[in-house]
Amino acid sequence: MRNIKWIVLVVVILSMIAPMAMAQDSGEGLTIGFSQIGSESAWRTAFTNAVKAEAEARGINLLFSDAQQEQENQIAAMQAWIAQGDVDAIVLAPVVVSGWDVVLEEARDAGIPVVIVDRNVDSDPSLYVTRVSSDFVHEGRLAAAWLVQATSGNCNIVELYGTVGSAAAEDRATGFREVIGMFSGMEIIASETGNFVRTEGKQVMESILSSEDPANICAVFAHNDDMAIGAVEAIKEAGLVPAEDILIVSVDAIPDIFDSLDAGEVNATVELSPFMGGPAFDAAIAYLNGEDVPKWIPVGGGLYTNRADYDATH
Ligand code: AHR
Repeated sequence: MRNIKWIVLVVVILSMIAPMAMAQDSGEGLTIGFSQIGSESAWRTAFTNAVKAEAEARGINLLFSDAQQEQENQIAAMQAWIAQGDVDAIVLAPVVVSGWDVVLEEARDAGIPVVIVDRNVDSDPSLYVTRVSSDFVHEGRLAAAWLVQATSGNCNIVELYGTVGSAAAEDRATGFREVIGMFSGMEIIASETGNFVRTEGKQVMESILSSEDPANICAVFAHNDDMAIGAVEAIKEAGLVPAEDILIVSVDAIPDIFDSLDAGEVNATVELSPFMGGPAFDAAIAYLNGEDVPKWIPVGGGLYTNRADYDATH
């Protein structure tokens, strides 16, 4: 009789522990701080919304901080979470590559794991668990490869640069230059930052169209779709036909760019998935459970010239 009581007790305890373990796997009950760059682009907003939805679906208490494009705001938010000791982990989408060492060391010293998402940092990788991101260099290569084949390797290019010092801009520029550098007829004749913002992309394109002979511009490589859409407006206002007089290739694959593709106003976009919250939470949870996590968790994406091809693969 005594033994049966013990067996029942053990079964009851085990039945309580099993759901707790499952909850830990999904992240339920965890508090995670998410330091987001801001809302400069439609892609960024989609990414924010996807992370929030993922947290809600998992029962994660997400502390969201919008840094309004300022690195110091990101660092202040992280330092507040660290000082209060109220987060189990931090997810950081860094605005620029450099300047994270001190706050990452503070997180490490407090025993709070940090997962980097989207853009990169140049800190020692031992200071963070992993980075969940696409390969921005590859995105630049894909855009360049499309442009080379569309122009038979002869093209004067305007580059609408993303935020200077950000991994997304620097790496896309690197990959793009790697490929066009193989073709003597491919040349970047102007490169200016539009900070990944639609209105700034338009302004920069307007100024380039007024300083360059438009007939000398073969294509625009925009580091994101929002700046490409801004460039489309500038090109139309200048009396030119976008995607015909001036080819346009960009990055992100936001819904608006498919409207532009449907309208024949841009030529191609490279996809950047906004669904990085799930893998980021999984990585934080795995780390908290004592599991090994690879230093890079890649998120893939292809190049699309029309909506049908994108829809067929999503
Ligand atoms: O870091 C990714 C880039 O940031 C996106 O391509 C751009 O739209 C965003 O602002």
